[in-house]
Amino acid sequence: PALFGPDRRNSRGWELTHGPDLAEIEAARAPHRAARFEAVPLIAGTALPDEVLELRNPADPRDVVGTVSPASAADVDRALAAARPWDADPATRAEVLRRAADLYEDHFGAIFAIVAREAGKSLPDAVGELREAVDFLRYYAGQAETLDAPPRGVFACISPWNFPLAIFTGQVSAALAAGNAVLAKPAEQTPLIAHYAVGLLHEAGVPRDALQLLPGDGATVGAALTADPRVNGVAFTGSTETARIIARSMAENMAPGTPLIAETGGLNAMIVDSTALPEQAVRDILASSFQSAGQRCSALRCLYVQEDIADGFLKMLTGAMAELRLGDPWDFSTDVGPLIEAAAKEDFAAYIAKARAEGRVIWEGDVPGAGHFLSPTLIRVPGIAALEREIFGPVLHVATFAADEIDAVIGAINATGYGLTFGLHSRIDDRVQHVADRLAVGNLYVNRNQIGAIVGSQPFGGEGLSGTGPKAGGPHYLARFTARPAPALAD
Ligand code: NAD
Ligand code: ALA
Repeated sequence: PALFGPDRRNSRGWELTHGPDLAEIEAARAPHRAARFEAVPLIAGTALPDEVLELRNPADPRDVVGTVSPASAADVDRALAAARPWDADPATRAEVLRRAADLYEDHFGAIFAIVAREAGKSLPDAVGELREAVDFLRYYAGQAETLDAPPRGVFACISPWNFPLAIFTGQVSAALAAGNAVLAKPAEQTPLIAHYAVGLLHEAGVPRDALQLLPGDGATVGAALTADPRVNGVAFTGSTETARIIARSMAENMAPGTPLIAETGGLNAMIVDSTALPEQAVRDILASSFQSAGQRCSALRCLYVQEDIADGFLKMLTGAMAELRLGDPWDFSTDVGPLIEAAAKEDFAAYIAKARAEGRVIWEGDVPGAGHFLSPTLIRVPGIAALEREIFGPVLHVATFAADEIDAVIGAINATGYGLTFGLHSRIDDRVQHVADRLAVGNLYVNRNQIGAIVGSQPFGGEGLSGTGPKAGGPHYLARFTARPAPALAD
């Protein structure tokens, strides 16, 4: 009802080429340009700061964005002892979550500032981050009203740094909408925006023993949460490797059947055939591969271009890549911000250096300043099988295919074992249907980019190594957070 009924209300949009909107954003962000933020464990309403670590801006490591006091294993124990499911009736829970959505929108200035400085989000990415979070709150609030099932109890919500507000909020709001107690563990790189969001959720009326925050690293806080039998369910978004570790720990330590909702990585492909509109395909490839500096699970990693058009098409693509502006995400004109941390930059720079030595780099540009920047880069490969792993940055691989090789390409994409997003640019309806019928992916996009799924309209999630389902922002997600009684057996 929240997204499709007469009471549907979208998150607020922004016109980013429009002077007045930009002036309003600038005025709201300005007080937070040099502010210091704080993240501490919030256990049943008590802040427990201990050790203090600095968090620095990935675009400019001289900028200290704030400090975090990581939770300890003892804090996890304390939080579990204090956790209480949210026993308000569904209508009250929905009302509180909608109030939180309004508070998020009211605080757009601080939110845009924190995600820019802590997570390197350009302004369009920051806007997308806030809008997705608000949509999750309103969508799950609407679903809570029609939910006829009890909560499971205590949910651990473990989130990644690349959507530090949207995915954090999506997991937490779903678990809360269903009436669970939530122990939220944000990524170690982005606790500040998580702490800020939990403050708004508490202000909206979520009880402090129903939502507790445990900033800290995966090996300490994440491992303790996923090994404790008092946890009745885990929502995890992150790498496929971490999901395997969590699944093993849950199997060893928790009651059989404890749900793990895991949304994980991808090796995502796009096919551009000779009937595609090249200008449109180029625009959509830039967004799919380089927006968020390629740090999206949905990002395009391997492009297949039909060989008949490849020379001209790649010339157009590299020409467009050269126009992308790398820089400080705070600047309105920035297209591509930094990577999240120095280690990622070093890792991917070494990967590119190897490809360069092998003569496979088709295009790369210069990088600015002292931040963790990596240029958008195009690397030639024989096919997707050559990608050994998910390179979580602005690195696009390209292969060519002949008109009669389309089924071999589909087979190679399916053989990766991942199945998150896929893009197809073609104006042949039969081909679109042929490909759509054969690809094992969660989200398939035709003649558009393959990122930025909209809550409620484009439920998001993958198959195989990319996740367990159910899809986030879709009609089946919330039920997984409930203890739905098994249907009665017929006599
Ligand atoms: P990650 O797996 O390193 O970390 C994710 C979270 O898991 C963090 O909070 C981390 O602290 C925690 N963690 C790490 N080790 C743990 C352990 N042993 N036990 C419990 N928790 C642990 O992933 P990341 O680098 O933060 O995020 C990038 C990855 O996330 C990419 O692979 C990307 O594709 C994936 N991702 C997937 C989706 C999706 O919807 N499918 C969305 C965003 C990101
Ligand atoms: N939901 C995010 C996207 O679609 C991950 O890009």
